[in-house]
Amino acid sequence: MIKGRLLAWDPKTNKRAFAIEHPGPWNGGILSTAGNLIFQGNIAGEFVAYRADNGEKLWSMDSQAGVVSGPVSYSVDGEQYISVTVGWGTAFGLIAAQKNPLSRVLSFKLGGTENLPAATLPTLNIPAPAPSTASQEQIELGHKIYHQNCFMCHGDSAKSGGLVSDLRASSHRDSMALWNNVVREGAMAMLGMPNFSDILTIEKTEAVRQYVIERARAAQPTSASSPTTN
Ligand code: HEC
Repeated sequence: MIKGRLLAWDPKTNKRAFAIEHPGPWNGGILSTAGNLIFQGNIAGEFVAYRADNGEKLWSMDSQAGVVSGPVSYSVDGEQYISVTVGWGTAFGLIAAQKNPLSRVLSFKLGGTENLPAATLPTLNIPAPAPSTASQEQIELGHKIYHQNCFMCHGDSAKSGGLVSDLRASSHRDSMALWNNVVREGAMAMLGMPNFSDILTIEKTEAVRQYVIERARAAQPTSASSPTTN
């Protein structure tokens, strides 16, 4: 996995002061304060304070979702606060299926007493598809086209990160007419779903649908006849 890194640069000596390795790419923005602190969240779901002069980790909390934005510092009636938005924003959040669409603003102050409530994550019901007549070639073509055109929003291997619909559970999945209406006729263009009529033929669009049906089948627990959660 590609990793991210916080790199502190000393402009006086024009040299690296220290570097902090992160567990993954696409981490949060950085805030440094006059009190010799650096705040940064990371993709692993941690919000961290470091010493600004040497990078020592001083404090961290479980933010229950990735932190990919930049924190802010402000004062209200002379009291200093740090706030940060938490959630799987960015293109990376769309692709990397985290199944955790939590979005929150967290605010901190010295001596604060509140605790973050436990996260309740939604479960996804993926209805079992009807038996398929698709050929292996058709499903493989759909797999390829899906990963050229759809995965960046709907998630790797048709498993959504929770921000845009999980196509395996979509009610459009079981009807080519409905599917085509969205994919090639722009029925959801106002919601941000591109119209693929310039790029995908009916045959290719159908192949993607068959791939998604195959993925929905693979998500069933044991038999292909009962609905499941994932
Ligand atoms: C730029 C991002 C993006 C891409 C790329 C994209 N979609 Fe979508 N899609 C959306 C959004 C946004 C919606 C509407 C909101 C939602 O369903 O979460 C949507 C909705 C859909 C729906 C309706 C889901 C439902 O049940 O409501 C289908 C079906 C669909 N997309 C299929 C596809 C297919 C097939 C591809 C690739 C050929 C594709 N999408 C590529 C963003 C995208």
